[in-house]
Amino acid sequence: MDEHVMRLYARTGEVFVGGSGATLVDEKGNEFLDFLGGIAVSALGHGHPRLIEELRDQTGRLVHTSNLFRHPYTEDVAQRIARLTGLANVFFANSGTEANEAALKLARVHHHRRGELERTGFVALEGSFHGRTMGSLSVTHTAKYRTPFEPLVPGVCFVAPEDIATLEQALEPRRTAALILEPIQGESGVRNLSPEFLRAARDICTRTGTVLIHDEVQAGCGRTGTFLSADAADVKPDVVTLAKPIAAGLPMGVMVASAPFAETLQPGDHGTTFGGGPFVLRAARVFLDELEHGGLQQAAAQRGEQLQAGLLQLCGDFEIALEPRGRGLMAGLRLSVDVKDVQRRLFAAGLITTTAGADVLRLLPPYVVTAAQVDRGMSLIASVLKELSPR
Ligand SMILES: Cc1ncc(COP(=O)(O)O)c(C=O)c1O
Repeated sequence: MDEHVMRLYARTGEVFVGGSGATLVDEKGNEFLDFLGGIAVSALGHGHPRLIEELRDQTGRLVHTSNLFRHPYTEDVAQRIARLTGLANVFFANSGTEANEAALKLARVHHHRRGELERTGFVALEGSFHGRTMGSLSVTHTAKYRTPFEPLVPGVCFVAPEDIATLEQALEPRRTAALILEPIQGESGVRNLSPEFLRAARDICTRTGTVLIHDEVQAGCGRTGTFLSADAADVKPDVVTLAKPIAAGLPMGVMVASAPFAETLQPGDHGTTFGGGPFVLRAARVFLDELEHGGLQQAAAQRGEQLQAGLLQLCGDFEIALEPRGRGLMAGLRLSVDVKDVQRRLFAAGLITTTAGADVLRLLPPYVVTAAQVDRGMSLIASVLKELSPR
């Protein structure tokens, strides 16, 4: 089985060959309800007719030219993302970790150009996950991801989420370039940061001239009911990073910055061969169009509320279901039983999920999931929790 592929992923052995909406089909023709969505990527689900049609058309026109040339979609997509985020300028990358690398580099170059040469440090939060490249890994907290690859970028300090007093001390006006945080921490357990903490972080960064980077790679792009998850707390970062669903399944990361920070960058400071090519931008256009004008944002918000209400209900019905987590279609359920066992049983019953941290079942359905599918997902989870509940 995949003998020549590096053994980096704990795969189930299942082979999926097709799908439609929130349903995936394996090679034997079995159907699965997809509450993983390609790990928060497949917002339009599988086999989306408009996406298929537009990508077929784009393949016949133009796939790649390089960033030495503009394309009609370049400014179109950038302008839409700038409007939706309330920020000014966009850099197109190819993944979440690359978007974060760009954000960290932007923070450093911003201070460097102002003559603040010592201002190179980063503050991040305990429980953070920002990606696997050296810079993003340096601000990722979990030891198992970091330790084999040390030494990483020096000058990184981690602060516990919600600890405003320690954050205040950690952000040193002469040494800290940026604070990076996920407004809803994904990998470590779908943990919402409080609006008070997000606002305090904003205030301290403004006071100290520290660049505030929000990593919305997993929580952003409408998944939680608003375009950015931090919109719910009415907090605007200086820089935001996006990826996962933004090009409807094609690889794309985005760094968006407000004008004073974006204007720091000069030609040659940063770049990429593939980022922002016509093919991925066409997919991003479809996603953003569906989100804004095709009713997808409203649908995601409604299904997200239904999902959260369902999880709350499960916590009322089963003692082993401890707490719903997350917001909208970025959802978690903290359990007192082995969460990997629950994930395996759900898979056997036809529901694809994932886990986060040690004890959280994580649900990231496509935005096109139907009300009936959310109900079905909840009843499959209820059946497994019933099997595992003490009698
Ligand atoms: C919050 C967050 N940031 C960054 C990343 C890294 O994204 P990618 O895997 O596209 O590099 C992830 C991936 O799960 C993520 O959840």
